[in-house]
Amino acid sequence: MRFRRPHLLGLAGLDAGEIGDLLDRAESSWEAAGTAGWRAKRTPAIARLSVVNLILEPSTRTRCSFEIAEERLGAEHLSVGNEGLSLIKGETLSDTGRTLQAMGVNVFVVRHPEVGAPARLADELPGAHVVNAGDGTGEHPTQGLLDLLVMRRRWGELEGRRIVIVGDVLHSRVARSAVHGFHALGGSATLCGPRHLLPEAVGWPGATVVEDLDGALEDADAVMTLRIQRERFVAGEAVPDRAAYRQKFGLTRERVERLREDTLVLHPGPFNRDVEIDGEVIDSGRTEVWTQVRAGVAVRMAVLSVLAEADPAPEKGP
Ligand code: NCD
Repeated sequence: MRFRRPHLLGLAGLDAGEIGDLLDRAESSWEAAGTAGWRAKRTPAIARLSVVNLILEPSTRTRCSFEIAEERLGAEHLSVGNEGLSLIKGETLSDTGRTLQAMGVNVFVVRHPEVGAPARLADELPGAHVVNAGDGTGEHPTQGLLDLLVMRRRWGELEGRRIVIVGDVLHSRVARSAVHGFHALGGSATLCGPRHLLPEAVGWPGATVVEDLDGALEDADAVMTLRIQRERFVAGEAVPDRAAYRQKFGLTRERVERLREDTLVLHPGPFNRDVEIDGEVIDSGRTEVWTQVRAGVAVRMAVLSVLAEADPAPEKGP
């Protein structure tokens, strides 16, 4: 099945055909994604878009790659963060959305600290398209797609592959989206980290949960390491000691040297060097981190052009 939805809110619930469709589109934007100043021939569908990136949490990669994707596609776009919006004056997100909609904005790219905020906005703004650019500990579907794209480019397909996701999985929307997408395409995930930062496997399709990283890495096809996302900890959750964490769960140079030569090393960024991954490993060229960033532009170009062709969510009756 092709991707024909009005919104992209998560990878949970998408089937292999829909994900494959988005990845095929992203593949066709690969050159554009890595080329400064590239401009698409502006299609009528793109010409009808007016995109606002509502980035209500710090972001480098996601924000800049959405902006670059919009620019390269030739879509009208602008970005605003908390500091520039009336949300801090007490306006609701829904009223901010309605205000922008009254100016003709029809695509909302939303990064928000609360799980479900983009989905709620999608319900409240009939006629608009909403893309979840990361909602609290919920999902980060365009990040999931870019991770899948990097792996698919390397392996051709993901069927039967195993990825180890190590670190603060509990607070990671990146991990959640990756696991759903990876599972839909026939792969499996091993989740690893300190016990209190691991979720129950329930709700994480095709995933197993382990605490021993060295065992998990044996024969892994890919390893993705995650930052300890302190800002998403709730009261009472202990932040691990950095040195002890690195020793048990860090992708140190020694651990990376023990990997199979063809094991992919992924990190969504931002990195905390010498905590979850050694700076030396990043600088060695052994990882896919910069390829992931480029894939992010390709995926965002794909998502926006597919949504441009999709029917918007129907207007609600009176
Ligand atoms: C991630 C995020 O925002 O969830 N970053 C990203 O979008 N590449 C991961 C993180 O914050 O650690």
